[in-house]
Amino acid sequence: MQLGVDFGTTRTIVAYADRGNYPVVTFADADGDPQEFVPTVVALVDDELVYGFEALRAAEAGAVPLRSFKRALASPEVGPHTVVHVGDRQVPLLEVITGFAASLRHELLTSGSARDLLEGPTLSAAIAVPAHAHGAQRFLTLEAFRRAGFEVTAMINEPSAAGLEYSHRQGRTLNSRRTRVVVYDLGGGTFDASLVKVDGTAHEVLDSLGLNDVGGDDIDVVLADCALAEAGLTWDDLDVRAQAELLGDAREAKERLSPQAKRLVIDVAGRPVIVKVAACYAAATPLVERTIAAMGPLLGMLEATDSPDLSDIAGIYLVGGASGLPLVPRLLRERFGRRVHRSPYPAASTAIGLAIAADRDSGYSLTDRLSRGFGVFREGESGRRLSFDPIIGREVVLPGAETADRVVVTRRYRAAHNVGWFRFVEYAALDQWGEPRGDIVPFAHVVFPFSPDLQGRDDLEQVGVQRTEGGPLIEERYTIDPHGMVEVNLTCLDTGYSQTHALRAREPVG
Ligand SMILES: Nc1ncnc2c1ncn2[C@@H]1O[C@H](COP(=O)(O)OP(=O)(O)OP(=O)(O)O)[C@@H](O)[C@H]1O
Ligand SMILES: [Mg+2]
Repeated sequence: MQLGVDFGTTRTIVAYADRGNYPVVTFADADGDPQEFVPTVVALVDDELVYGFEALRAAEAGAVPLRSFKRALASPEVGPHTVVHVGDRQVPLLEVITGFAASLRHELLTSGSARDLLEGPTLSAAIAVPAHAHGAQRFLTLEAFRRAGFEVTAMINEPSAAGLEYSHRQGRTLNSRRTRVVVYDLGGGTFDASLVKVDGTAHEVLDSLGLNDVGGDDIDVVLADCALAEAGLTWDDLDVRAQAELLGDAREAKERLSPQAKRLVIDVAGRPVIVKVAACYAAATPLVERTIAAMGPLLGMLEATDSPDLSDIAGIYLVGGASGLPLVPRLLRERFGRRVHRSPYPAASTAIGLAIAADRDSGYSLTDRLSRGFGVFREGESGRRLSFDPIIGREVVLPGAETADRVVVTRRYRAAHNVGWFRFVEYAALDQWGEPRGDIVPFAHVVFPFSPDLQGRDDLEQVGVQRTEGGPLIEERYTIDPHGMVEVNLTCLDTGYSQTHALRAREPVG
């Protein structure tokens, strides 16, 4: 049986394919009540890591939980070496995510509502990553799920999966004139938007954009700020535990907000504080405006103030738990009118779309794009000259999971120096001069020996860069796999000396 697993910042949701239906798995919470999610939380109990509902229970008994650890994956510096703090222990992030995924697998097999349909030990699943996830983020997610005993059949961008759920449910809004859907996904920690073209059951993602640092968690902070201001306090007046409680209370108050509410009550250091909803909304509006500006280019808007082109848009589909804040649909409808639809299952839309993608019998197909560019700063004269070469554009279509084909880009040239300095990066966008702009993530820094007499030496950084005449023939080869991960191969064709650089984790210790 095929699963769709949406590893979310605050909640992880699983759906499965069952003869054309895509039900959401329920799990038992601490009281034994069914919930359509597992909280993405870890806590330390007696020197052991516990996850999900068990971690929440431990938190109630006094353990300090770590939430939103998926956010650490988005950091440009993230790698297999990254550690996070759980209680008083430092734990590798990869170990935390692997442990979480292993506990999820265990729950699926023992207590989840689909346990009787599942066969272990390995579970087959499509998983999701934020649309603009960089290579290391994709790699660590995939690696953690594999180590935890999942066979990952596909890794799909979150809003692309939600686009499948839209056309499965709202297919009637699509017609020959209106063939495109914009998915607006405001989750706990990230904002993602995709423009999906739908032709019958064929889905093609035309573009995806997003913000790695805006989500419901940030709205909680805004509400907590409002409550603190009302109480005449600052964050420094609260200890760590009281801060965590304030944020938790702000989140609960936010999730209970009805469209008509005028006031909300948030506990600050044990005392209830009444806050005006209008003031909170005013403070949260810039966050929502940022998401609208980020999505703008998908609707032909170049500036946030331009008017959108909605002529072939069947719907703007709101998914993600944080789109439940009444302010969000309100601001979007002010901008885009009646074509704004909220998903009936905002939190589960991605997981359902993943289950549809994983289901070989669904008849739905999905073509997705890299959505982050890959390029290299080539340094001449040991960094004194720097030029940028965009190698793979963010619009490149990813190879399908079932094809052996890989997207390959090659470059060949005669070396003009004795060594080559390459700073490979992933980038979100290019500016008008063709230089990467905004968020840039390092991929690898490589010093490659062009001169045959330097090949095999390990002190190349010390070798001064010199121009050479008639250098050897060099080939650069770039390959992208179906998960959107790039592998770089540099070869001296004269001698056969070659190096390959890809994202790899260190083997688990012990
Ligand atoms: N009714 C509601 N009103 C407002 N916010 C809500 C509501 N229900 C849930 N949320 C918020 O939605 C967020 C979680 O959304 P969701 O479950 O889509 O995120 P996620 O998948 O865990 O995160 P991400 O997709 O960013 O990794 C939290 O910030 C939560 O407080
Ligand atoms: Mg999500």
